[in-house]
Amino acid sequence: MVAIIGHNGSGKSTLLKQLNGLLRPAEGTVAVMGKNISESTTASLARDIGYLGQNPNNYLFEDTLERELQFTLRNLQVPEPEWSGRIDWTLKMLDLERYRYSFPRDLSCGERERAALASILVGRPRILVLDEPTRGLDHWNKSRLASILGTLREQGMTTVMVTHDYRFVAEHATRVLSLNDGALREVPLAAVMEMVKVCGTEA
Ligand SMILES: Nc1ncnc2c1ncn2[C@@H]1O[C@H](COP(=O)(O)OP(=O)(O)O)[C@@H](O)[C@H]1O
Ligand SMILES: [Mg+2]
Repeated sequence: MVAIIGHNGSGKSTLLKQLNGLLRPAEGTVAVMGKNISESTTASLARDIGYLGQNPNNYLFEDTLERELQFTLRNLQVPEPEWSGRIDWTLKMLDLERYRYSFPRDLSCGERERAALASILVGRPRILVLDEPTRGLDHWNKSRLASILGTLREQGMTTVMVTHDYRFVAEHATRVLSLNDGALREVPLAAVMEMVKVCGTEA
């Protein structure tokens, strides 16, 4: 569970978008798990890297939640016999089973966030990339997200997230990197805990 922190405009979102080929470097190379992203198609990167941007509504456009998840599975060319098992697993993990046939955009804010996450997780990426996943979440939805990410971690999934929420980082990240002046620096977890004490929750 890697957290990336840094000032506004330091390039955190830009960095995340390079991990799944949404953006490609104008110079230099970006390699993810040994794959040069400039030589990989967005479709092949999407199989390994699940990216969730800041607005969950951008991920929800089908009539039912089930169809959202099927859309991802079709895109990733997952064999159809696997679909129902994958969808069951995802909805259960995110506690969304009762919304399987609901209209996703009618869900509450916290549920929409989980529905958007579901549309990524159903692809079973090896790395989950989240841009400010705690933004706008109340305490309850935040701890819910933390518990989901904890379960995924136990199952071997890596999460890379950008967040300004130092408390969330201190409580849940296993590694923290700070992006500043174009360079990533390792930040000891103890230093993040200190920042929470000094500055409060938000950066
Ligand atoms: N390495 C870079 N070189 C040039 N411009 C960059 C670089 N990283 C970010 N930018 C530009 O800086 C602006 C802010 O970047 P962004 O990734 O949105 O920052 P953050 O998410 O940290 O607030 C964007 O316009 C982006 O294109
Ligand atoms: Mg950003």
